[in-house]
Amino acid sequence: MLDFTDRVVLVTGAGAGIGFGIARAFHAAGARVALGDFRAPALARALAELAGGARAFTHVMDVRDEKSVGDFVAAAEQELGPVDVAVANAGIYPNAAVLDMTVEEWDRVMETNLRGVFLTCQAAARRMVARGAGGKIITIASGAYQSGRRGASHYCASKAGVVMFTKVLAMELADRHINVNAIAPGLVTVDPEVNAVSGEYVQTLVKNIPWGRPGTPDDIARAALYLASPLAEYVTGTVLQVDGGSSTGRTYLPFSTPRG
Ligand SMILES: NC(=O)c1ccc[n+]([C@@H]2O[C@H](COP(=O)([O-])OP(=O)(O)OC[C@H]3O[C@@H](n4cnc5c(N)ncnc54)[C@H](O)[C@@H]3O)[C@@H](O)[C@H]2O)c1
Repeated sequence: MLDFTDRVVLVTGAGAGIGFGIARAFHAAGARVALGDFRAPALARALAELAGGARAFTHVMDVRDEKSVGDFVAAAEQELGPVDVAVANAGIYPNAAVLDMTVEEWDRVMETNLRGVFLTCQAAARRMVARGAGGKIITIASGAYQSGRRGASHYCASKAGVVMFTKVLAMELADRHINVNAIAPGLVTVDPEVNAVSGEYVQTLVKNIPWGRPGTPDDIARAALYLASPLAEYVTGTVLQVDGGSSTGRTYLPFSTPRG
């Protein structure tokens, strides 16, 4: 098991789902964790689940807002110490066809998923650079960065943007020994508190997961632990697909020719 004792880990969108799973895994590995989310009740629940809140700190914040993100990072550092690991996770995935989509719907996804990742990474990176002790930054993209689906033009575009942003940031921070990597989860089962997906969508998608089941927040969290660990010292600017093999192709297809 990887040990993060005395490490400070900051996670956005950590009140539920994958973000909470990541915060919980780092906490279990000994880290001090800062959880940011724009839903106060979710943060209260999350804090209670983390051994009653020891070594954990929550802050109501909105990743779309520069001041809110800056305040979160500053408050986390004051409470827990300098940030070693930042995970830009908060994201939303509503659906709308391009023909029907309002500008507001487009902007909300872009502001949360892309601007939010930029603001979170920028604020954390500035602190890491000022401290001069390196660091680890992880963005949560999605298999949607390279695999489109109807109704998700804004989402897919935002995640493709997250991946390219991650690569460029990795280049810019390499000489400061700050690793920057993306995780691209496939389908992950989360409580439908903010982002709900239909049963029909899940059943259809599961047929294209060679591993035979959707992912869990713990599956994604273990990838985050690896990327934040010394094992990933030379890994930067990459996209780690954690999806049970669903990005390999079309697993639901039969053999195209008879055998022999
Ligand atoms: N669940 C999946 O199948 C899946 C697959 C691929 C990628 N992802 C990505 O993983 C990330 C987490 O998704 P999830 O499935 O855990 O969702 P979730 O809805 O379970 O959790 C997202 C959390 O982010 C918070 N949040 C949303 N907007 C925010 C904002 N503006 N500021 C602060 N907090 C905000 C929500 O309150 C919520 O607690 C997202 O970036 C999503 O795109 C999810």
